[in-house]
Amino acid sequence: MNIQWYPGHMTKTRRMIEADLKLVDGVCEILDARIPYSSRNPDIAAICGNKPRMVIINRIDMADPKQTQRWADFFRAQGLFVIQTDCKSRRGISTFQPAVRAMLREKLERYAQKGQIGRPLKLMIVGIPNVGKSTFINQVTGRKSAKAEDRPGVTRGKQWVNVDQGLLLLDTPGILWPRFEDKAVGMKLAYTGAVKDDVVDKEALASALLEMLWQRYPDAVRERYKIDMPADAPGWELLEACGRKRGFLLARGEINLERMATVLMDEYRGGKLGRFTFEGPEIYEQ
Ligand code: G4P
Repeated sequence: MNIQWYPGHMTKTRRMIEADLKLVDGVCEILDARIPYSSRNPDIAAICGNKPRMVIINRIDMADPKQTQRWADFFRAQGLFVIQTDCKSRRGISTFQPAVRAMLREKLERYAQKGQIGRPLKLMIVGIPNVGKSTFINQVTGRKSAKAEDRPGVTRGKQWVNVDQGLLLLDTPGILWPRFEDKAVGMKLAYTGAVKDDVVDKEALASALLEMLWQRYPDAVRERYKIDMPADAPGWELLEACGRKRGFLLARGEINLERMATVLMDEYRGGKLGRFTFEGPEIYEQ
């Protein structure tokens, strides 16, 4: 991760988020649609206590639409409010305000009863690194950078950004940790780019990705790389078969696996293979 999580850091982060929670009416947790389980903080429910929570399934442009719908249904069944977004094209961004108002309907009614019409609702955005927090804040508020200006002479304290007249966001999102102790989660975070490539062996990463794609989306792999392999073929053999088809050969006729690994990762991340989701809600039962 671009942030090293160690126990002291987690405790500090948790305290900071808990302090911010006192200032807001609800929490919006951003997840990566390709890996909603692996991109989720394992302690989110405990951290948020009884604050109303919304799940923002982001990067839907890169995920399997059927699986995204299953995940949305799954979170809704847990009583959470859910929206689906693509922060690049702004798809789903306009569903944010109505969803917040639905989530905080009782609070709005209380404000109305007390004559506090126009009292703003306050929310914070949380999520693991790289999930799209800053991009989301920028999209919903229409601003260019999510970084607070640190001008001398301006009173320090919490900065808020306007979404609209009655809706404020805390301008700095809460950065949460993933389930980093779980190796399978670590691999999925690496495929999707949440963990930097240089911390994982590239050929091992590409093999594991290919194996997973071959199991979940064999047609997409077959179509792109024209390989014909058994359904349970190991990743290394799949990578080799793809390299052979592409003609990536070394001097003695060996396959240039490193080159094939680079091509595979680039093509996957560039969306050339298709839209994939690496885990369904049933992962919670395993
Ligand atoms: P963070 O604050 O949670 O750390 O994440 P940030 O907003 O910086 O987003 C990380 C990267 O993810 C950004 O790419 C951003 O453009 C991209 N991103 C955010 N939301 C979406 C989405 O819905 N769909 C897609 N496809 N990408 C999204 P970046 O750092 O600019 O790199 P890149 O865009 O050149 O890859």
